[in-house]
Amino acid sequence: MTLKGKRILLGITGGIAAYKVAVLARALGKAGCDVRVAMTEAAMRFVTPVTLQALTGQTVWTDLWDPRIADNMSHIELSRDRDLILVAPASADFLAKMALGLADDLLSTLVLARRCGLMVAPAMNVEMWDNPATQRNLRTLREDGIAFAGPAAGDQACGETGMGRMLEPELILAEVEAWFQPKVLAGKRVLVTAGPTEEAIDPVRVITNSSSGKMGYAVARAAHEAGASVTLISGPVALATPQGVARVNVRSARQMFNEVKAAVEGSDIFIGVAAVADWRIQKPADKKIKKINDRLPVLKFEENPDILAWVAARKNAPFCVGFAAESEKVAANARAKRAKKGVPLIVANLVQEALGADDNAITLFEARSSKVLGRGPKIELARKLVAHVAGMIEKAKR
Ligand code: CTP
Repeated sequence: MTLKGKRILLGITGGIAAYKVAVLARALGKAGCDVRVAMTEAAMRFVTPVTLQALTGQTVWTDLWDPRIADNMSHIELSRDRDLILVAPASADFLAKMALGLADDLLSTLVLARRCGLMVAPAMNVEMWDNPATQRNLRTLREDGIAFAGPAAGDQACGETGMGRMLEPELILAEVEAWFQPKVLAGKRVLVTAGPTEEAIDPVRVITNSSSGKMGYAVARAAHEAGASVTLISGPVALATPQGVARVNVRSARQMFNEVKAAVEGSDIFIGVAAVADWRIQKPADKKIKKINDRLPVLKFEENPDILAWVAARKNAPFCVGFAAESEKVAANARAKRAKKGVPLIVANLVQEALGADDNAITLFEARSSKVLGRGPKIELARKLVAHVAGMIEKAKR
């Protein structure tokens, strides 16, 4: 499911991060959302309603007493048809107001009178964030079921550094997308491996493969979106960690194996997406191998542990999902791999098509059936896979 057709009320409060909300409003619009904007007095000191009006193509609302609303019920009318109220930036003051249930301007009244979901993207100075009063308000808001997008830590407009930066617009957009996903893995703990591994030849040379990690990262993101708590054990890749996912970096297959061993206890689901090197160099040189006349180096290999098979063979093993990247006879190889690894589900794709691309085409193989998920962006396939896994777990319980 995408954001197409979702109706968002974007609430802007007073903070310097408000200037970034112009980008967010545009991104939401581009994603197919219907964006209606309400601004507080303080917000208008940072950006003008004209900016948001031009970007959303809609009237921007700022006044609780706006005579243009026929029955003067703007605090109700403006949110009734919405799917989500997103307050970005949400200032410390506005969060405090929400925690107390105050309603003394248009936006706070809309928030209090809402029937739809509410997400906030806090933005404030680090001291304001750390203040016990703010922390107390945040706890209250969490208890009230309000969703949070950020904040992040880093440099602040005031020159200080720390927690309280508003999440970048594209990450807020990802959180909004996540919010709309069905929470089919709520309360579950998911462990995902992703990316390639690297096996050292000497201190500067490695053997690796061309896995980009994109599919594994998409799976981790989709599991988080579905409400799971996700740990991602990742080989070396050039990808940003999906929002809300705990990432552990490794290089070699053995490091990956050790991190999986350390994290697997208590996991409900294990999804091995990593392209783990099947072999490692028996004795990597501890100094760089030099060219000596015409002598070519000879590498001797030994086998790496099969992480997926090890997890699947454990007592009380989590629900295990393997990936099969094949270059031919996909169905036969995937079926054989499923049986060999002892896992209930194998996800198969053709490597020629998948490697490094944003799109993929996958088929799911269970013991007695298979299901073509077809072609699409990796994140969409990952969401379908997560839904399928949740369905299999549900079925197994019955
Ligand atoms: N896998 C793993 N540890 C390994 C090798 C593979 O956990 N040492 C996992 C992968 O993450 C993937 C699945 O096993 O989920 C299939 O991996 P693949 O390398 O395709 O299968 P192999 O068993 O190595 O078979 P082959 O290389 O012959 O295709």
